[in-house]
Amino acid sequence: MNNNLWYKNSVFYELSVRAFKDSDGDGHGDLRGLTEKLDYLQTLGVDCIWIMPIYPSPLRDDGYDIADYYSVDPDYGSLDQLKVLIEAAHQRDIRIIMDLVLNHTSDAHPWFQASRSDRSSPYRDYYVWNDDDKKYPDVRIIFSDVEKSNWTWDEKAGQYFWHRFYSTQPDLNFDNPKVRDEMLNVMRFWLTLGIDGFRVDAPTYLFEREGTNCESLPETHAYLKRIRSMMDAEFPGAIMLAESNQWPGELARYFDAGDEFHMAFHFPLMPRMYLALAQGDASAIIDILEATPAIPESCQWMLFLRNHDELSLEMVTENERGFMWREYAPEPQMILNLGIRRRLAPIMRNDRRKIEVINSLLFTLPGSPILYYGDEIGMGDNLNLPDRNGVRTPMQWDDSLNAGFSTGEPFSELVQGEFGYQRVNVASQVNDPSSLFRCIKRMIAIRKEHAAFGSGGMEWIDMGIPSVAAFLRRYQDDTILVINNLASCAETIQIPEEYQTNYLNLLGGDLQTLTAQVTLQPYSYMWLEQLK
Ligand code: GLC
Repeated sequence: MNNNLWYKNSVFYELSVRAFKDSDGDGHGDLRGLTEKLDYLQTLGVDCIWIMPIYPSPLRDDGYDIADYYSVDPDYGSLDQLKVLIEAAHQRDIRIIMDLVLNHTSDAHPWFQASRSDRSSPYRDYYVWNDDDKKYPDVRIIFSDVEKSNWTWDEKAGQYFWHRFYSTQPDLNFDNPKVRDEMLNVMRFWLTLGIDGFRVDAPTYLFEREGTNCESLPETHAYLKRIRSMMDAEFPGAIMLAESNQWPGELARYFDAGDEFHMAFHFPLMPRMYLALAQGDASAIIDILEATPAIPESCQWMLFLRNHDELSLEMVTENERGFMWREYAPEPQMILNLGIRRRLAPIMRNDRRKIEVINSLLFTLPGSPILYYGDEIGMGDNLNLPDRNGVRTPMQWDDSLNAGFSTGEPFSELVQGEFGYQRVNVASQVNDPSSLFRCIKRMIAIRKEHAAFGSGGMEWIDMGIPSVAAFLRRYQDDTILVINNLASCAETIQIPEEYQTNYLNLLGGDLQTLTAQVTLQPYSYMWLEQLK
């Protein structure tokens, strides 16, 4: 396969540098710490790491509020240390992508400071100002738990400024050609350093137009295509991954003819994996994949179960959201905006069977999977921490002081109780063949041996039971039959005649013959390679 399509068969891993590993005892994870832990990620089988923002920032939104696009926050280290990290990762065949936050800066950014202080400053027009707060009334508020408007009055400027996220994150004005050019330079800067691409933060909101909801506007897509063509011309092989929380039809426009994004998170599929599991009925997954348009060969969905934000329930109906809140967020403090601020293992009530079967979906449905750091060992969250911080706690390496994360006072309170580091940590799992870590590692290894998962077609197979998600993944002469039982009870399925044959059970390593009827244990799953 064309090496520039590496992302189609890769396994991704998202991490917070601050939370991963502290090398110097200041309590903050850093680039040197991450470099030390590359062997761990290689052991797990990760092909590409997405690192959350490491730019200088006042941290009003954990680094998604950038105060300087051209350097690394000293808490994490230096540009030289980033180069060392990139080189060490590349030596292990691990790529690194980072966040590119186009839509907004921090209010501490010198551009914003100049913009608000002086109407004649060349930076005035870098942001979106208005005399009143009445423009763009059709636009929704994303951080609805905190913000009441997308406009905030600035005393110094004597005007309102526009922001889609926190009021400490003023939106850049993409109607200004200088802003458009500047962001291309930001991209060139990091790509020249050796970064393999970007997870593009909130690309949906770049332009504003009256009478619209200001999402996915034609002007926005045109600009995204322009940055893609720069990447193709100057940095072939580097990727753009879209974080756009939209319905499948809208999302497909972010790939367009294969000339915009390489990858996009499948936001509508994500909650439906949880929904299907809670309902013991695969149809939510089947329906959303049927509603998902085909995408160009060179494009790929990014599949995920969790990330550093709340588990977003924007892409389900109100009824479904209510159901999922009752099921997965039974206490009010677990809810944030339109989502759930918990990690995977606690959401699954630490039921190992459920954690495994939902991962089986993650690793076998069409797309490339991304893991959120710590979920491979079943880490928990800390609901005492505000906002989304409860799912960004220090990685639990071992049962020594501070989870082996830092010799100093960690930047964050650790997770307590059932999911505390004394019980849940890397050291106790890497060498234990029955651990969750080993199970995920095995799924990754098998997935990487079969291009059918990343590049193959997909066909649903009706086995007569609604709780069973059964499908074929096929690439060239490699055919894999995947069967997941999403029910809490055993189910006997009817195997259609053409599939009553011999298989290699990829997870168990043994041979298996499927007969007319097969009984599946609750939440069990099989990945079966058809023998020729
Ligand atoms: C994205 C990030 C989120 C951040 C927001 C504003 O949604 O994932 O963490 O708060 O953008 O930058």
